Amino acid sequence: MVSSPTLAEEILELKQRRKAIILAHHYQEAEIQEIADFVGDSLELSRKALEASGDVIAFCGVWFMAETAKVLNPTRIVVVPDKDAGCSLVDSCPAEHIREYKRRNPDHVIVSYINTSVEVKAESDILCTSRNAVKIVNSIPAEKTVLFLPDRNLGNYVKEQTGRENMKIWQGACIVHSTFPVRRLLDAKAAYPEALVIAHPECPLAVLKHADFIGSTSALIDYVAASPAQEFIVMTESGVQYSFERVGPGKTFHYVNNENCNCSECPYMRMNTLEKLRDALETLSPRVELPEDILRRALLPLERMLAVK
Ligand code: 13P
Ligand code: SF4
Repeated sequence: MVSSPTLAEEILELKQRRKAIILAHHYQEAEIQEIADFVGDSLELSRKALEASGDVIAFCGVWFMAETAKVLNPTRIVVVPDKDAGCSLVDSCPAEHIREYKRRNPDHVIVSYINTSVEVKAESDILCTSRNAVKIVNSIPAEKTVLFLPDRNLGNYVKEQTGRENMKIWQGACIVHSTFPVRRLLDAKAAYPEALVIAHPECPLAVLKHADFIGSTSALIDYVAASPAQEFIVMTESGVQYSFERVGPGKTFHYVNNENCNCSECPYMRMNTLEKLRDALETLSPRVELPEDILRRALLPLERMLAVK
């Protein structure tokens, strides 16, 4: 009797048939990361999307990341496993509020974190990710007032790192990184005194001040790979465990839970499943479709960001 193909086999067959590339963020379930052609943080995924060949990009992350891939690849089909995989930072910053801010402050430079809707990107002067945010803000002439949006924690961190006074900060927050209780971090430090604390800059400054290393998702992974330390307290989304195990076999990782749950998982990122990925490749939907003028206007700040080395 011939056994029926596994989900992974079905996806690999569809990937060939559709001439597709599968991109996955580090916060995806391990089984999705295993099947992806490339796993990365939001900056790396933007760059990979730009290099993509083939007809289809299947983007396993959240919606704004897939929109970014579409802006960089307007002629390719971009599909996602679940269209409802959103982001609390995107929700905190509606485009009409930014248009109103610009009307009132036409001379301010809008620096938008990549965790924004494509409509907000289209209103922005330049984009950034958690990996390059300090560099991007430093690239803006010192006399210009900056509006940094939408993440208040990343904004506060960048303001501290750059020492920039003329920087206004939108008050959005990530539901995962903004809800790590300092009390639980201090408990973990007491329980594991040998462990180094590594944190994503979307965490509040009250958490970051206890960190031995602060960085974007991929920067944390690189740090774990290079560090002689064997034990870490992790202040970010627990999906990174897959990559930590790959780069630091035998090392130990302790995760601090969010305020209201016994986990540190992004509920949006975890909406994607292998079944939904298979269906997206089969039906070529849900698909990212964006108006011409939005694609054109969002590309400019994205290209400005990618040009900053
Ligand atoms: P990275 O830029 O580190 O991939 O972060 C994206 C994100 O959504 C973190 O919560
Ligand atoms: Fe958005 Fe936070 Fe989820 Fe990242 S972890 S996608 S910032 S809600």
